[in-house]
Amino acid sequence: MDRIAIIGGAELNGTIPISGAKNSALKLMAASLLTDQPVRLTNMPRLADTKFLGRLLQRLGAELIEQDGADGPETLLHTPEILGAIAPYDLVRQMRASFNVLGPLIARTGHAKVSLPGGCTIGARPVDLHLKALEALGATIDLHDGYVFAQAPRGLRGAEITFPFVSVGATEHAMLAAVLAEGVTVLHNSACEPEIGDLADCLNMMGAKVEGAGTSIVTITGVARLGGGSHAVIADRIETGTYALAAAMAGGEVRLTNTRSDFNQALSDKLIEAGVSVTPTADGMIIRRGPGRLKAVNIDTTPYPGFATDLQAQFMALMTTAEGESVIRETIFENRFMHVPELARLGADISVHGGEARVRGVERLNGAQVMATDLRASVSLVIAGLAAKGETVVNRVYHLDRGFERLEEKLGACGANVRRIKGSGSEED
Ligand code: UD1
Repeated sequence: MDRIAIIGGAELNGTIPISGAKNSALKLMAASLLTDQPVRLTNMPRLADTKFLGRLLQRLGAELIEQDGADGPETLLHTPEILGAIAPYDLVRQMRASFNVLGPLIARTGHAKVSLPGGCTIGARPVDLHLKALEALGATIDLHDGYVFAQAPRGLRGAEITFPFVSVGATEHAMLAAVLAEGVTVLHNSACEPEIGDLADCLNMMGAKVEGAGTSIVTITGVARLGGGSHAVIADRIETGTYALAAAMAGGEVRLTNTRSDFNQALSDKLIEAGVSVTPTADGMIIRRGPGRLKAVNIDTTPYPGFATDLQAQFMALMTTAEGESVIRETIFENRFMHVPELARLGADISVHGGEARVRGVERLNGAQVMATDLRASVSLVIAGLAAKGETVVNRVYHLDRGFERLEEKLGACGANVRRIKGSGSEED
């Protein structure tokens, strides 16, 4: 397995172009199953996760072509016919978002067999809200042998659905199923993440009638069929925030382009509070950090537009060397502090009680061998390594490759001393 080695101490100066959003791209790829016409997704990130899902879609009957278009990387997906409507364990377990093929499969064929998902080990992450929403839309659901067996032989029908708490995946899944249902579906207490607006835009481009995406009430008027077309994936706000935090950690001045600063307002506010300069630009933001220590600030992760749970680990890395104590509350996922013992290996002083971590800033971190435990945790270790004295080696970077495209190249272009050590196989396991 590959590892990433970082020699800390170099400032970051330069420009980092942001890729299309992983979390959006995965749902848009699933949406392509809803039509027998070709769908072209531009501004596509090239990641392990999009590859996994691409393989699953091919198994389900999609023709998939990845190419470099006029506007960068794009993926053409065309599923003239669904073959089998079965998503097997070996393809779904690698990534939780694969589960989102269930809704489109039922909507298009009236039946599906989809393995229960895997994904990052950040808590139990059940799919009960997804299944309840599909049942409300008229699907009959049976669970056995690790699989969901779903039937809706006479098609899905619109329903009023109220989510008991905000779930990004369940909101998206309900949208994916409801677009071809008969009648009107209203989703109450929907997630408001920008990726949900992006999914609605893509579905509407395909001929769906989705209104209110990005607010807590989403209304979907079912249509008989959807067509194809072209859609550009929105910028990855988590990648944007991650590089903003990398620049804040290492110091220097970094311009983030091909993205949007308004998607990261909660992070920007916290960075400014900590002493980092954040300047929004027409296509992103400029992050500048001068000499001297940052100030410790507190964060609570909450659904959008609050502070993103997917930036919690990276923000914690930044706080390890800030002056004072930072209280970080994780309210979205349990068990999302697995980076804490790894940051401690670098000299961070952190204690965890339930969903709350207290980070007491130290003068400096020292490089060490560390282990990536999940996608966002792994990049927090890279961020910490940028400011640690000496060499930090992050093992198990396959987690990182799931969600960050060309990380070493993007950081390296700004002066970071980061390199990938190609692994021969199982040296860390
Ligand atoms: C998505 C993102 C992930 C991000 C998360 C929260 C993708 C591919 N992943 O994950 O990067 O961290 O949103 O912003 O888009 N829950 C249930 N039952 C359900 C569904 C969720 O109990 O049926 C719980 C989860 O365990 C979690 C909370 O609800 O505690 C929120 O999860 P959710 O918003 O659904 O996250 P994902 O869609 O899985």
